[in-house]
This record gives sequence, structure tokens and C-alpha cells, in this order.
Amino acid sequence: MCGIVGVIGNNNTTDILLNGLEKLEYRGYDSAGIYVNNQKGKDFLVKEVGKISELENAVSSDVQGVVGIGHTRWATHGKPTIENAHPHFSEDNRFYLVHNGVITNYEELKNKYLSDFTFKSQTDTEVAVQLVDYFAKQGMDGESAFRKALTLIEGSYAFAMIDKEQPDRIFVAKNKSPLLIGLGDGSNVICSDAMAMLDQTHKFVEIHDGEVVILKKDSVEISKIDGTKVQRDPYTVNIDASDISKGTYDHYMLKEIDEQPNVMRKISQNYINDDGTLKVDKDLLTELKKADRLYIVAAGTSYHAGLVGRNIFEQLADIPVDVELGSEFGYHMPKLSKHPFFIFLSQSGETADSRQVLVKVNEMKLPSLTMTNVAKSTLSRESDFTMELLAGPEIAVASTKAYTAQIAVEAVLAKALGEAKGLESAKNFNLKKQLALAANGIQTIVDEKEKIKELAADYLTDQSDAFYIGRGIDYALSLEAALKLKEISYIHAEGFAAGELKHGTIALIEKGTPVFAFVNDGIGASHTRGNIQEVEARGAHVLVIANQKYAEAGDQIIIPEIDELISPIISVVPAQLIAYYASLARGNDVDKPRNLAKSVTVE
Ligand code: F6R
Repeated sequence: MCGIVGVIGNNNTTDILLNGLEKLEYRGYDSAGIYVNNQKGKDFLVKEVGKISELENAVSSDVQGVVGIGHTRWATHGKPTIENAHPHFSEDNRFYLVHNGVITNYEELKNKYLSDFTFKSQTDTEVAVQLVDYFAKQGMDGESAFRKALTLIEGSYAFAMIDKEQPDRIFVAKNKSPLLIGLGDGSNVICSDAMAMLDQTHKFVEIHDGEVVILKKDSVEISKIDGTKVQRDPYTVNIDASDISKGTYDHYMLKEIDEQPNVMRKISQNYINDDGTLKVDKDLLTELKKADRLYIVAAGTSYHAGLVGRNIFEQLADIPVDVELGSEFGYHMPKLSKHPFFIFLSQSGETADSRQVLVKVNEMKLPSLTMTNVAKSTLSRESDFTMELLAGPEIAVASTKAYTAQIAVEAVLAKALGEAKGLESAKNFNLKKQLALAANGIQTIVDEKEKIKELAADYLTDQSDAFYIGRGIDYALSLEAALKLKEISYIHAEGFAAGELKHGTIALIEKGTPVFAFVNDGIGASHTRGNIQEVEARGAHVLVIANQKYAEAGDQIIIPEIDELISPIISVVPAQLIAYYASLARGNDVDKPRNLAKSVTVE
């Protein structure tokens, strides 16, 4: 949800800002803008509606300076227009500010301090910059005015602000929204995500909630809003710049789908020793053994991975599991078990809906683990334990490899817990072998791309609705398959428990309606076959994705051998590819579907 960047002390400021924004475009792409100052009295503000490429076209060669800030927007308050694009600026063009987050009390602040002011935009952000200006006009210097405004602003924010009267520094502050400082040689940078600035540095400093940074080209001064100084050491981010390039692919999504066999191998190597024993934090297992119930909290695709995980934990670790949407659970918390343990699943580690649950869990002093793809992310920092997904940067907005990695890492933990409890079910589950089968199985499916492309054309051209159905583990998978299809192809798709169709939804089936049926669940297989007959009898155009064990003549996609418990790791891949090709055929922007952003840092 919005990405921000900043640079100070570098003659290539404009290029660094634009390159950084390109890398952050996954966080929102409704509009973008930069403010650049040459510290000699000349400055530039350029904003455009649309993607970063529009902004790049609008930036002329004379836009050069040594300090600057930039923003890519996912609209919350106010439509995607130039006026609503960031940076926002104060009345007399003194302060320029970019913001990621939502100021919840902006109406109140407007009414109390700025009732005479005519706002140029409909954003909550403009209130912040006008408020700083308001206090400056009362006689405060830029820093004091910034700090004063921060004491009044409620909600989530990552701010970067330049005061034209002191262009040798950038004022930075953070609450709930992600923000990092990158340390360069003679210059420093700001970014919402380290990926944006890997060309400049691999050394970063975390900023915590409630902190303010005065960033100069050769210094980073961190303090609390009240001015108390904070000391923090930098850390190194071990991501290769090539991990975040598209390479020879047209789209990140296809690259990330193709990377899944390697992700499975990496998880296996990292978490399983050659003799099959697991490398899982002993303290984590000690804590987990005390739990009488697991609460998996997540959103979107990660929630769907949690639904698959429930089965795995119940089978291998003999523990009841609730899987909860963060956006619901945090505000309607059910009666918890006596000894709950929370598992947060989050690719980005920044999802605000999940984070607000973690904040409450911490207030209740309950134990928690985050499974995330981003080490040092907010959820990782704030929970007691972290397990990394090791999927490598996922840049396409539609999540693919993080989903399969989440299932694999859930299986690692479930087996480790089951073994720690001395359970035969866990000991007998040969995870090393299963992850090897998963890697080979995914490879088999991605090697059938051309066939899947043809099936997508055959089943989805000119269709506006589609259904994914399955039972048990395949029902959880159907939800994810349908989400993938709708978010990037914009075809209305739903995932259903196959047995539930006859209780209402079957009324929607008419001649030619595409129904994709999963048959990987042994117990449900024969019943699902019955449900397939039922929809076929009503004219549905059915495509069956079946495990080789349960396959029948005429099934279109066969899933290679794998234990049912983790079978979605392979069987989701045809659905990912179907969504990809359906989106491509419609001329959509596969990696950046409309209305979405990758890291959802607003509630
Ligand atoms: C869909 C997708 C989203 C995310 C959701 C949670 O393809 O990517 O549904 O899964 O926004 O994000 P994370 O996993 O970062 O918490």
C-alpha cells in the first residue's frame, strides 16, 4: 500500500528515486511523484497519474538534484488524480511530504487546526503537511513543527519530508507502516522495502514505531518523538539484485511460478538434515508443546495456505487448529482456548490486518510465531519466533511461490511438533521425500505450460464466471485457485466445497459454465466425481485436475505422486498457470492487476 523512497547526498537523486519507485510499484500504481532539490535554491515537483512509466516520461532531463523523495500510490482517501498524488506540499511551497499509511484523525485535525485552509487534495496526507506548516508559521523550526504534528497524528504512517529551508536533511518518521534507512557511501537512502535500494546499498537500519529520523548525507540520527536519542546498529540484507529482476521472463508471475521447484529444494535443504531430522528452533517447539490449540491468522492467499496447514497440523501434530482472517479475528475475537499459540502467515510480514491481531496477542502476552518471506519485517520482529519461507522476493502482486512455500514450512513445523510429542504419524511422514516429490511434480506441471495455455483458452475465452470445486484439502485449494483467477483475469470465480453445490450454487450452472474440479483427496474423490456428473448434466464445461492415484480416462490434468496432505503444493500450479494465461489473453497487466497492491499495510 503505497511505497516511499528518499535519497540525500547523491547527484543521481532523480534516477535513484525513479528506479526505487519502479521496484516498489508492486505496493501501488495509481499515481506517482517525486520532489527533487539541488540544495542551491532550485527544486522540482513532478507527479503523474498511473504507473511509474508515466512518471518517468514526465520527468525531463533538467530535473536534477542531490536530495529528493518519491512515492507510488495505492489510493485510500481520494481518487487517483494529480492533486491527490504525492508528494504533497504546504501552502507556500516550503514543506514537501510523502506518506504511506492512513491518518485516522485527519478530519478532526482539519477542523481543529486548519479550518480556514483550502485543501488542494482529498487526501488524509495533505493534512499532515499543512499541519507541519501551521506549526512552523507559529514560529517553530521545521524539526519542532514536524515533531509537534507527529504528537497529534493518529493512525499509520511512514513519512519522509523535506523542508526547503533546510534541504541538507530529510525528516523521517514511522508508525505501523514499514520504513528503512539505507546506508550509502557519502549518501543515504530511505525506502519502504529494502528491494528498492539494493542497487545503492545492502546495509540497512530499522526504524521502529514512534521514532523520528533526521537523515543527512553522512549521518542518521534516530530519536523518539519526544527527542530521546536511540542507538541502532545496521544489518545486512542478503538479497541478490538479480533475484528481483525479471530475467528473460515477460512477467514476474511466470518467473515466480517456475521458481517453485527450487523453493521446495531450498526449504528442504534449510530445514531438513541429510538424515531426515529437522532443524527447528527448540524453544519454539517447547512453547508449542504447551499449546492446546493453534490459531493461524492470515489474509488472502496466506489464509488459504493456512486452511491447507490446518489439516497438516491436525494430522502430524495431533493438535486442533483454527484458521482465522486477521481482518475479522482482531475485532471479533472468539473465546480462546486455555493455552493458545498463534501462527501468523504472511508473505510480506507487513499486512496490517494480521498485525493488529499480533498487537493484541502481545498485549495478552500470548506466544506467537510468524512464517514470512521477509526477515526483519514488522510481523517477524514483533512475534516471539520467526520461520522464513525462503521463497525469495515475490514481486508479482498475485502470490504463487509464497503460497507453496507456506504449505511446505507448515509441514516442517507440524512434523517437528509431532516428533517432539513422540507421534508415529509425524515420524512416518517422510518430508524430505515429499518435498523432493513436490519439486519434481511442480516441474512436470510447469513443463506442460503450452497444454495449460490451450486449456485456459478453451475453457475461459469469453467467459465471465468460473467455479473451482473440491472436497477436503481440495476445497481449501479451490478457494486459492478461484482467488488467483479472479484477481488477475477479472473473471468472476468462486471456490466451492463440491458437496455444497447442490445446496444452492448449482443454480448458477448453465450450458458452457467452466467448472474446474480437483480430485486429490482420497476420501472425497468418489463423491466429487458424483458432483462432477451433476454439473455436467446441467451443461457445465468441466476440467478435472486429478492426482494420478484417482485419475480417470478423460481427466485433463494429472498431478504426479505426492502425499495428499501437501498435495496442493503441486495441484495449485495448474490453477496458477490457468489464471496467468487467462489474464494474458485478456490483455491485462498480469503482474499489477487493477485496484490491488502487494503489501497491504492499511486495515
Ligand atoms: C493474492 C495475494 C494476497 C495476499 C494477502 C496477504 O494473490 O497475494 O491475497 O496473500 O494480501 O498478504 P501477506 O501474505 O503479505 O500477508
